[in-house]
Order: sequence, then structure tokens, then C-alpha cells
Amino acid sequence: MVENNTLKAIELAQSTQELEEIRVKAFGKKGSITELFGMLKQFDGETKKHKAKELNILKAQIEQALAAKKEFLHSQELAQKLVQEKLDLSLFSAPLRGASHPVMLTMERVVAYFTALNFTFCSGPLVEDDFHNFQALNISEHHPARDMHDTFYFRDGALLRTHTSPVQIRTMESTKPPIRIIAPGAVFRCDYDITHTPMFHQVEGLVVDSEDKISFAHLKYILQDFLQYMFKDVRVRFRSSFFPFTEPSAEVDISCIFCKGDGCRICSHTGWLEVLGCGIVDENVFKAVCYENVSGYAFGLGIERFAMLLYGVNDLRAFFENDLRVLEQFA
Ligand code: PHE
Repeated sequence: MVENNTLKAIELAQSTQELEEIRVKAFGKKGSITELFGMLKQFDGETKKHKAKELNILKAQIEQALAAKKEFLHSQELAQKLVQEKLDLSLFSAPLRGASHPVMLTMERVVAYFTALNFTFCSGPLVEDDFHNFQALNISEHHPARDMHDTFYFRDGALLRTHTSPVQIRTMESTKPPIRIIAPGAVFRCDYDITHTPMFHQVEGLVVDSEDKISFAHLKYILQDFLQYMFKDVRVRFRSSFFPFTEPSAEVDISCIFCKGDGCRICSHTGWLEVLGCGIVDENVFKAVCYENVSGYAFGLGIERFAMLLYGVNDLRAFFENDLRVLEQFA
């Protein structure tokens, strides 16, 4: 048998590159096997024949071992490569670019005020039914207030909620008083111009406690304090108004933050800006959720309206067109 340690080297090889070096060392121009073949000419006749046969067997063995090891190392290296080069698209490789949207910044500021006063954060479904969006809120089928809501209806009678007030109903249905919630979220109305978009955001507040515990004075105090917190140095005025789900009801104005109440284009020369609606929860609303001997107040405000005033944006649509020149100003 011809002496050769190529087979041993193949067995020990750790990489396809090492394997290729072994192949060249054996079969290259000056390779050990090539040299052995070269030495055959020293022999004659039977000896030569015998040696050549042995050498050919060795050659075949080495070639086979090389091929097998190559396949093994190749698949091993591929597996390793796949692990190393795995691309996790959910990882951030660079710091996140962008910033909170002004509407969200405003929403967070509103919610922060109320949660600091122990209001619980709540949310409700965007697709509502007639009962929660209207009927339980004392807006019966032919109530004229429905006209003001420009509702998006689905074919089966479901609808996109037109305000966050249905969260009042859902909360009262699922919990016992006392209640103290703040519920921000998107609402939808079929409307589009400089001051209306089909989707906008409201924040709803509801406080319910036992009979006679909650009065208009509580509502007035908290909203006055809240508006001072949001706008600094404004006067606040409550104007009597109407909502089907509150009685008495009020709309709340702040002195115009642009002209300090002197009258300008933004406040239509009245010196006042309307910012929210509120009132004492109507008895019929409590009836709809089977609440007895309770009292409460509720309020609702439009986030975009607040954001426009806080950031001096005069076209509501600017919040939703996502023009980078606008958004970058809030980074
Ligand atoms: N839901 C009313 C609206 O969308 C706002 C409101 C909420 C008024 C709660 C009073 C009490 O205009």
C-alpha cells in the first residue's frame, strides 16, 4: 500500500478552504499523489502494474473522501452563514427618527391632567351600535340632534362612533359607581373643510357618585382648573347650552389666547373661543344603564381644536396631510 496521509488530513479539515488546500497538495502539479504517479516510471512490468493499481485505488479513495467532506463542510458553513446573516427587520439599527404627532402630544397632556386627579384611562370601540352612540345617550330615533352628527353608517346598522360619549354608557354598563374616567379616542363624522375632518379626536370625561354628591360646582371647578393648566392665564366662561345627555348643559369658552380678549379674526371679534361641552348627566342616561340614586357630570372636548390653539395651526387639515415641513416643527 502506498503511504499517504492525505486521507487523515481530509478527516481533520475544518473548512472548505482548508480542504481545497489539501486537494492541491495531493493532485496539484507538485502534489504528493501526482509525484507518486510520476515515480511509476521507475518500475517495470508486473511491479509497475501492481503499483499503478494501488495508486489508482488510493486516488479514488482520496477523491471520494474529498467530495464527501466538501459536501459536509459546505452545508455546515451554509447553516452557520444563515445564522450569522439572519436579518431581524423588527430591530432598530439606528435611533428612531420622527416625533410624536401634535394631536397625540395634546391628547397626552389632557390625559395627564386628569389621570393625576385619579381619573381612570378608558377606551371603547370605534365601530358602535345605535344604542350606545345615540339611544342610551337620550338621543331617540327621530331626535333632531342626530342631524348634527353626520354619521357614517354600515349596511347592518352599525356605525362609526360620532363622539366619545358611548364610552360613558359602556363604562356604566360594566362597572358600579363611583366612576371617574377619562376616555380619549378617534371619532368620525362625514364632514370635510377647513375646520372639519372625517376623523378627529375627542376626550370624554365622566364622574358618577351617589345621589347629591356631584354638583355643577364640581364640574365648574375642575374644568376651570384644567383650562388654566392647558392655556395659562385665560379667563373661563360657562355658557348655557343643550346636549341631550346632560341637563343642565354648558359650553365652555376661554378668553381668546391670540388677542387676550380684545377681539380678532380667530375669535370672530368676540374675544372668546369655545373649547368644550359639558353638563350634569341626564336622568334618562342613568335609566338606560339601570343606575339609581346617583349623580354625575360629563364633559367632552375636541383634541384637534386644542392642538390648533396650542400650536397656532389655523387649518385643521394640516394635522392629517402629514407634510414633513409641518411635522418636523414638532420634533
Ligand atoms: N359628545 C359631545 C359632542 O360630541 C360633547 C359632550 C360630552 C357634551 C359630554 C357634554 C357632555 O359634542
